[in-house]
Amino acid sequence: MHPVHVRPMREDDLGSAERTSAATFLDADRTTRRVSYPEPQPRTPAASKQWIDRMRFYLDVDPEGCWVAVTEGPGGEEDVVGFAVSQNRGPLWYLATYGVLPSHQGRGIGKRLIDAALRHADGRPGIFSASVHPGATRRYRLAGFALHPQMHMVGTVDRSTLPAVRGLREGTADDLAWMDRLDRRIRVAGHGPDHGYMLNAMRLVVSRDIATPGYVYIDEHGQASLLAAADPATAQKLLWETLASSRGHTLVNCITTPNDWALDVGLAARLDIGQEGYIAVRGMPVPRPYLASGKFL
Ligand SMILES: CC(C)(COP(=O)(O)OP(=O)(O)OC[C@H]1O[C@@H](n2cnc3c(N)ncnc32)[C@H](O)[C@@H]1OP(=O)(O)O)[C@@H](O)C(=O)NCCC(=O)NCCS
Repeated sequence: MHPVHVRPMREDDLGSAERTSAATFLDADRTTRRVSYPEPQPRTPAASKQWIDRMRFYLDVDPEGCWVAVTEGPGGEEDVVGFAVSQNRGPLWYLATYGVLPSHQGRGIGKRLIDAALRHADGRPGIFSASVHPGATRRYRLAGFALHPQMHMVGTVDRSTLPAVRGLREGTADDLAWMDRLDRRIRVAGHGPDHGYMLNAMRLVVSRDIATPGYVYIDEHGQASLLAAADPATAQKLLWETLASSRGHTLVNCITTPNDWALDVGLAARLDIGQEGYIAVRGMPVPRPYLASGKFL
């Protein structure tokens, strides 16, 4: 086995890092899949491009949080065998993605990568959405993170249950300043530049009421990608609006116990409760009323 170096990620690592990420998560999905789940499929070319675009964004905004593990070939060319991509947003640190090629797992490379990313956190509170992979949960708990089990809701919305939702409107870039203030109340820090990224890619729906602000980003499948609100009733309105946009089979993800207001909406819409993964936090409580984005937390 060639020696492995851990160093800051560079733009020219992105192609190799993407191939490593695709292979690592396909293997993890296959080994942790429940029997009732469909067979995991390789990443599509469109999803590979999206991954590279998002990593380039993290590298632009906060390069010191982005690390790779590389091996050197006989001609001096480097191959990425692992990555830990984290970001500081003001007083908050989050982990965006983390993986080591299956052939290289269990040899301490993951520990070197997460240690580098956590040095960048420099004591900030931290948050991320964790897989159930045994190597991952072991690493996270040993690094001092509390693991809060996540529920999700799946199925097809019974449209006869959809209530008339009032007081919401489409969001724009003019909303981002108050959204960051709301983020600071709920999850320590605003999303800052991440809001710009999400606004470009998704539909934003907001409750602009001064006493009960809230927002939700709805992705191309009509699913909530990130939802934050001042109170559970506003959060429920935003989730109903999201369910009204869903088409066919849908998913409401990242529901922690303090956010069981989301279960009541999902059950009323005749979705089913499931459970997968964890919201990991260190130095902060689980945000609420809040459904985290797996990518921007
Ligand atoms: C999580 C991950 C990055 C860790 O990388 P790694 O190089 O295996 O990490 P390390 O070897 O430093 O540490 C893993 C620890 O878990 C243990 N471990 C690794 N794979 C394991 C497995 N399949 N079952 C049980 N324990 C395992 C290792 O023995 C080690 O513990 P130790 O240091 O006390 O001996 C890697 O396992 C991975 O890519 N998993 C799949 C993708 C994933 O789930 N990523 C996290 C997304 S949130």
